[in-house]
Amino acid sequence: MTSDLERRGTHWLGAKRIDLESCASTNDEAARFARAGAIHGTVVIAERQDAGRGRDGRAWASPIGGLYFSAVMRPPLPLADVPPLTLAIGIAVCDAARAFGAAAQLKWPNDVLVADQKLAGVLVETQSQGGRLDSVIVGIGVNLEVVPPEVAHRATALHVERERFIAELIAQLEVWTDRYIACGLEMIVPAWQERMAPGLSARATINGVSTVGELAGIDGDGALLLRDPSGIVHRVRSGDVEVIRPLPGSDRVLSPDA
Ligand code: BTN
Repeated sequence: MTSDLERRGTHWLGAKRIDLESCASTNDEAARFARAGAIHGTVVIAERQDAGRGRDGRAWASPIGGLYFSAVMRPPLPLADVPPLTLAIGIAVCDAARAFGAAAQLKWPNDVLVADQKLAGVLVETQSQGGRLDSVIVGIGVNLEVVPPEVAHRATALHVERERFIAELIAQLEVWTDRYIACGLEMIVPAWQERMAPGLSARATINGVSTVGELAGIDGDGALLLRDPSGIVHRVRSGDVEVIRPLPGSDRVLSPDA
């Protein structure tokens, strides 16, 4: 007999799916389900969020029409190997958008852009106990159908049928998560670099000096590489760097990322 997962072409992601009309944050709901024992691959999807969260404590505007998706994952990884998983997740979201014809690209660490405008963001959070990984909550917000007015100047939307996009997203997430678990960053780094949006800059503090340089990719550990104005390439830590991007239609003026 063919199982539901086999019919969808996936094996573990989406094994259990919880659909909510609204919630504060699907990441919070997924974390709650994980603490209550939810299995690897449980997915929580909401039609809207009242307190959607982005990276660095920012809000994620979450009106009806967008996709608010969180997955509970329990990968067999040491805690230290979880952060680079976000690169694999970014690739998966990028490829899901590309499967519908969008010219999607990645902005470090894992924003998905189309023509310099943000289409999707990823927020990966871990839950651990006594230094051991308990679960990873992979949160993904995609502007499907609507661009929230709050971010209209720097965001874009994908107009595709919601369930088809969810199926593609789940399939891509499963492929790229399994690749990272099996092979580590070896497969992820070149794939991420191939999808990196060109022409982005970043401001970082290097040897105590604030420097603006061109993004030169990521190294074998997934750390960002910044080429300073004299051509020297520096490895920068995520906490010390702010990616900045050209305003649409301009190759000179830089605006802080938000
Ligand atoms: C970012 O770009 O800053 C990350 C945005 C992540 C938003 C998603 S929407 C689903 C999940 N629930 C949340 O509260 N946040 C993530």
